[in-house]
Amino acid sequence: MQVILTGADWNKNWLESLKKDKSIGLVPTMGALHEGHLDLVRRAKLECDIVIVSIFVNPTQFNNQEDFDNYPATLEEDLDKLKEENVEFVFIPKTEEIYTEKPKLSFNFGDLERVLEGAFRTGHFNGVGIVVSKLFNIIKPHKAYFGQKDLQQTGIIRRLVTDLSIDIHLVIVPTRREGDGLAMSSRNLRLSPEERDQALILFNSLTTAKKELLAGKPWFEVRNQINRDFEEAPLARLEYFELIDPESFVSYSDFDISQKSSICVAAYLGKIRLIDNLPIIP
Ligand code: PAJ
Repeated sequence: MQVILTGADWNKNWLESLKKDKSIGLVPTMGALHEGHLDLVRRAKLECDIVIVSIFVNPTQFNNQEDFDNYPATLEEDLDKLKEENVEFVFIPKTEEIYTEKPKLSFNFGDLERVLEGAFRTGHFNGVGIVVSKLFNIIKPHKAYFGQKDLQQTGIIRRLVTDLSIDIHLVIVPTRREGDGLAMSSRNLRLSPEERDQALILFNSLTTAKKELLAGKPWFEVRNQINRDFEEAPLARLEYFELIDPESFVSYSDFDISQKSSICVAAYLGKIRLIDNLPIIP
């Protein structure tokens, strides 16, 4: 496995010769790799000749300095995991390499960033848009892999690719969960044992709501029940629980079996913010 530290190295020494006859798949990550990340890597390995995984904790997408400062870093373990998956390249740029200057350009994703994560994390999607654009331009992959776990992020990146006519095929990979249902996340590493127990409320609330909607219960009643459930979990604080159109991310006021819909949740467990989502009608 070859470790690449700069875009110049990748472009000069590898990209040209590889791109002639090999398909290149990029898996962008912020490290602290878990099985969810590795699912993306495995899918990329199946579909591409060469896989490059980037590990870069992107400062511009953190709206909370404490979250950035405490973001888990497990580089040695990450590299071991990627070696085991027979990944060909890892790109580990320094912040100065990605941000030689503070960007003046900023993205405005319109309606998409006024709801859900966009509403609660000001500037987050601009930071994601900037760094993903930079990674696409530096690595120039044929395909790029993202997780359904960050549903709205996939919507943002789809917009980026469509609106800027970027010639990259996006692949969205289903959410990998722990045995009890908790969506895998690098931030799970920071939960105390009690918070970890109560974090299950995210997945439980999604599965309960899905079951009740499919059984015909009105959305406002389902949501009231979920609000009460959260009040009974002392370490959990619900931020949002929405029934949405997974393409526009607009919230529905009620469930309609004939429309595509997903439920999205965000909640704090102590100081750790977690998100999850579940498609009802895919
Ligand atoms: P990060 O949180 O490290 O996630 C990297 C990729 O792994 C994302 O596409 C994310 O959706 C996916 N992923 C995370 N948990 C997952 C799970 N349980 N199952 C399946 N996929 C999962 O998302 C980011 O980094 C950053 O925003 C990034 C795109 C790298 C830009 O900085």
